[in-house]
Amino acid sequence: MDRDEIALEMGVFIPVGNGGWITSTKSPQTPSTYQFNRQVTVLAEKLGFDFVLSMAKWRGYGGPSQHWDQTLESLTTMCGLAEATTRIGVWGTVHTMIFHPAVVAKMAAVIDQISGGRFGLNLVAGSNPYDQGQMGLWRDLDHAGRYRLAEEWITVAKRLWTEERVNHAGEFYTLEDCVSAPKPRRMPPIICAGASDRGFRFTVENCSGGFFIGSDSDDFVNTGLRAKKMAAELNRPDFKTYALFMIIPGETDQDAQRRVDLYVEGADIVALNAQSFEYSADRSFKQNTSANMFVRQGSAASPFMSVPVRGAPRTIGRKLADLVRRAKLNGVIAVMPDFIDDLHIIGTDVVAALAGEGIITTACKMTQSEAAL
Ligand SMILES: Cc1cc2nc3c(=O)[nH]c(=O)nc-3n(C[C@H](O)[C@H](O)[C@H](O)COP(=O)(O)O)c2cc1C
Repeated sequence: MDRDEIALEMGVFIPVGNGGWITSTKSPQTPSTYQFNRQVTVLAEKLGFDFVLSMAKWRGYGGPSQHWDQTLESLTTMCGLAEATTRIGVWGTVHTMIFHPAVVAKMAAVIDQISGGRFGLNLVAGSNPYDQGQMGLWRDLDHAGRYRLAEEWITVAKRLWTEERVNHAGEFYTLEDCVSAPKPRRMPPIICAGASDRGFRFTVENCSGGFFIGSDSDDFVNTGLRAKKMAAELNRPDFKTYALFMIIPGETDQDAQRRVDLYVEGADIVALNAQSFEYSADRSFKQNTSANMFVRQGSAASPFMSVPVRGAPRTIGRKLADLVRRAKLNGVIAVMPDFIDDLHIIGTDVVAALAGEGIITTACKMTQSEAAL
């Protein structure tokens, strides 16, 4: 092989909202139950995925598919999954406007104990004004203000994880002789999917990694390289980049395309319009990149957040390997229509195809060592 081998982390964005990541009546209607997510996570661990991540979402979009009308709370779900597993990373999501950093600092220390140091955190500084606004927790801050809050939030949380007593008088939080014990055994991996320039800067300066999506292959590559460039400028050589891909496998490329066509045919326009409507209510709409993305998705009536990587496992392996190399990715976070059968194919045939392209994952190593037994 004339190319360098690349080590790639692989995670699964587990379907804690019903219907998963396809807004369609014709895609698998995955249930948003703890039991189902436990089954997915146990399988992901067995296959050798490095981590599972759950989103934070508080209300759904209705429509015939009732998209995300049921959602599990992220951190309590990850607590359960930590107990149900032994190796895989369990990463949860927190809206910084909803939770006080001292509350999450302690929750993280507990999940650190339950999981034996496998907990990670995804921070969301903004997102959907209806989602958090329904309980009066969407603050009247502009986009920059939300990132100022997130910055203060993470500064306070990190201090509580490392200092005995914290005094802090800031713009958003006041802590007086605040103690938080126990401490986590280590700083958890912290990621953020902020995609605007401000969100990117926050992520590179304060987090261990960023994750993102792209409207097409070039967009994925440009965003990945933009993050790496900023990390280099800010002297953060260890900063990791993860891309979220919808992966749709088939026995053949044509078979996978038929699946895509079917889901497009069933696109739930009512739910997509509700999503567009909610995100466009953000008064910082222009700066909020997810708002723009979701509003675009609605007007295109696309059941997918980004163009799916589709095909037979070898085709998917080739396409992903190309994106990983071009975008200099450290990790891939996978979503798929069927979180059991497709996950199995991705964790075996696709990772084998990736290995054939010089992209080495824990999942591939585990499959090989099992095969050697
Ligand atoms: C892959 C991905 C995952 C995200 N997960 C969540 C989530 O769980 N909950 C949420 O409210 N927003 C989520 N977001 C929204 C982002 O945290 C962020 O608000 C968005 O990308 C806009 O970036 P910006 O604030 O820099 O404009 C996610 C976005 C992406 C791209």
